Amino acid sequence: MSRTLAAITGVQGFVPEDVLTNAQLETMVETSDEWITSRTGIKKRHILKGEGLAASDMGKEMVEGLLKKTNTSPDEVDLLLCATITGDRVFPDTANTICDKVGIKNAFGYDINAACSGFLFALSTGAKYVETGARKKVIVVGLDVMSSILDYSDRTTCVIFGDGGGAVMLEASDDGNGLIDEVLRGDGNGRHFLNMKAGGSLHPTSAETIANNEHFVYQEGRTVFKHAVRGMTNTVKELMERNGLTNDSIDWLVPHQANIRIIQSVADALDFPMEKVMINIHEYGNTTAGTLPLCLWNYEDQLKPGDNIVLTAFGGGFTWGATYLKWAYTK
Ligand code: UT7
Repeated sequence: MSRTLAAITGVQGFVPEDVLTNAQLETMVETSDEWITSRTGIKKRHILKGEGLAASDMGKEMVEGLLKKTNTSPDEVDLLLCATITGDRVFPDTANTICDKVGIKNAFGYDINAACSGFLFALSTGAKYVETGARKKVIVVGLDVMSSILDYSDRTTCVIFGDGGGAVMLEASDDGNGLIDEVLRGDGNGRHFLNMKAGGSLHPTSAETIANNEHFVYQEGRTVFKHAVRGMTNTVKELMERNGLTNDSIDWLVPHQANIRIIQSVADALDFPMEKVMINIHEYGNTTAGTLPLCLWNYEDQLKPGDNIVLTAFGGGFTWGATYLKWAYTK
């Protein structure tokens, strides 16, 4: 008898309407379209604007679209996980706020904080509920409102990130399509290189933390770059080896969209053809927990049941990993 797997049965992305182009950034900080394009691959990013709008409002758009697409009533949803580092508030969580805004009443939810690997980690958690039969319909959201924690006078960070994300539905599958395996890793020493310095229990918000600009993304870019290439390459290799996957048998590699040069370096290290690598960084920048579902959403038209897909991510924590799944449906 084949093992019950958790399959993705729908995906819905969302990015806010407002766009911030490289040309606009040129008027805000000392940078150029040429530098941003050649060093990161990013041409524009979407920014959430509007009085009172927050992460849960983007989540509401994604989840409502997903429910419509999968012909699911809000009452049928059992669990909603939200991967984010830019939730509406430090507490409570954003998952339950999304449920409230969508009218999901028979479920529970919680947030997962694993930065750019958040969607992979949340997918893993959600899949366990489905595989064990504990829950039937699980929604996994990955989103971030990075504009809410960026210092738009710091050219080393403000050009990279954008707002957006996506949501997937997970349901049980007995036909061999679904999440097959994963290699997930963490290294807390990475906290020194990518973080927000204040606002938590280590350095609670004070006049001093505000004056010192400590409520924004802090990143040592080159260090993170090196670890990202190594981490994603090694976990993809490990996953491929133990599942007997080859570059030919993988239909799509879906890397976290942090920098086109990181993506290219991972593909080069694996000797993997770029034609089979999902890329949308030029459109959205780095949306942190949002990049992987946004990729699946953009490429959904091209995916077929049985396609071998490897997702990989690296981010704050450090956290990183790779997940192997077989796609389960045709759009
Ligand atoms: O998603 C979570 C994980 N995050 C990542 O994976 C990001 C990893 N890191 C990166 O993607 C890259 O390190 C960055 C895009 C952040 C930076 O690119 P880089 O090629 O590593 O640049 P660098 O930090 O080595 O800086 C090179 C130069 C510096 O000038 P000097 O010191 O050589 O005179 C920077 O000040 O580029 C300068 N620079 C800029 N110049 C124009 C940095 N940012 C900018 C900018 N415009 N926006």
